[in-house]
Amino acid sequence: MPHFELPQVAVPSMNAVHAEELEVLAALEKALEDGENDAIAEAARAFLDHVEEHFSREERLMEQYGFPPYPIHRHEHELMRARVKDLCENCASDDGRQALLRFVREEFPAWLTQHVSTMDTVTAQFLAMQGVE
Ligand SMILES: [Fe+2]
Ligand SMILES: [Fe+2]
Repeated sequence: MPHFELPQVAVPSMNAVHAEELEVLAALEKALEDGENDAIAEAARAFLDHVEEHFSREERLMEQYGFPPYPIHRHEHELMRARVKDLCENCASDDGRQALLRFVREEFPAWLTQHVSTMDTVTAQFLAMQGVE
């Protein structure tokens, strides 16, 4: 289980998506530890899909409400989208699974904590002022 806590932002629905993402991430870590190929593939797909939903939802809101630094926030998402896609699509081999497990335990939690405390925090403050909940 990834044991870390994310900072809360000013938009509750964003916090809900973040909390859900940690659950999907924990399920992927568990599948990788258990080592069942089908379960790993399924959990990796679920994680990839969740990250995509999470990022595109924020992007839609930023576009809809005209958040000026939208391209900067989206750029951070784009880099991480590519990283997640690469790792999740290459988890059929032992090396790929090891790399994905390291990512799930260290890199992604560190990235998400940093991203939520900067980009998402500022974005949520802006959206909350526009009445987004
Ligand atoms: Fe987010
Ligand atoms: Fe974000």
